[in-house]
Amino acid sequence: MRIAIYPGSFDPVTCGHLDILGRALGLFDKVIIAVAKESTKQSVFSVQERVVMLCEVTRDMPKVTVDAFEGLTINYAKRVGAEVVIRGLRAMSDFEFEFQMALMNKKLEPSIETVFLMTQSDFSFISSSAIKSVVSMGGTVAGLVPVQVEEELKRKYFG
Ligand code: COA
Repeated sequence: MRIAIYPGSFDPVTCGHLDILGRALGLFDKVIIAVAKESTKQSVFSVQERVVMLCEVTRDMPKVTVDAFEGLTINYAKRVGAEVVIRGLRAMSDFEFEFQMALMNKKLEPSIETVFLMTQSDFSFISSSAIKSVVSMGGTVAGLVPVQVEEELKRKYFG
């Protein structure tokens, strides 16, 4: 069985993430979405809230599981028997950071590959921060995040 992990902060999950996930599902038998517990970023949703939202939006995807992890991504990948780390690329600006991270991960664990998938152009301008910023100022993000996620965001910002 070919297992991949799709790590990230997912604060919150967007349609861009789901696009990458959908494509990864065509390539692997199982994809584990791995929510990083540690981040340098100030998060809006707790790790638990992010995991719950991800579980909801992937409910109809039997090959997907959702988990949270601490420490090095590559150690988590080894622990769950994954051979591949999936990362999405949106624009050239993602490349430098992703390249550095992939090489560091390769150095730490040569047996695990990073596979990059290009985000569909409709979603290439989205980031979780941009989504949060739009919602917090009363704008709509319909079509850019799953409906449940937009509702959760509105609840966070406006109660
Ligand atoms: N569509 C829309 N947005 C996308 C996207 C896509 N396909 N892919 C990424 N993004 C956005 C995310 O929403 C996020 O937006 P934000 O910065 O506004 O929150 C941004 O791009 C960064 O994406 P993400 O995948 O969440 O990266 P990250 O930097 O938050 O997480 C980890 C990266 C968790 C995988 C990385 O830090 C890590 O591996 N940490 C563990 C420690 C470790 O192993 N370190 C060694 C590595 S060198």
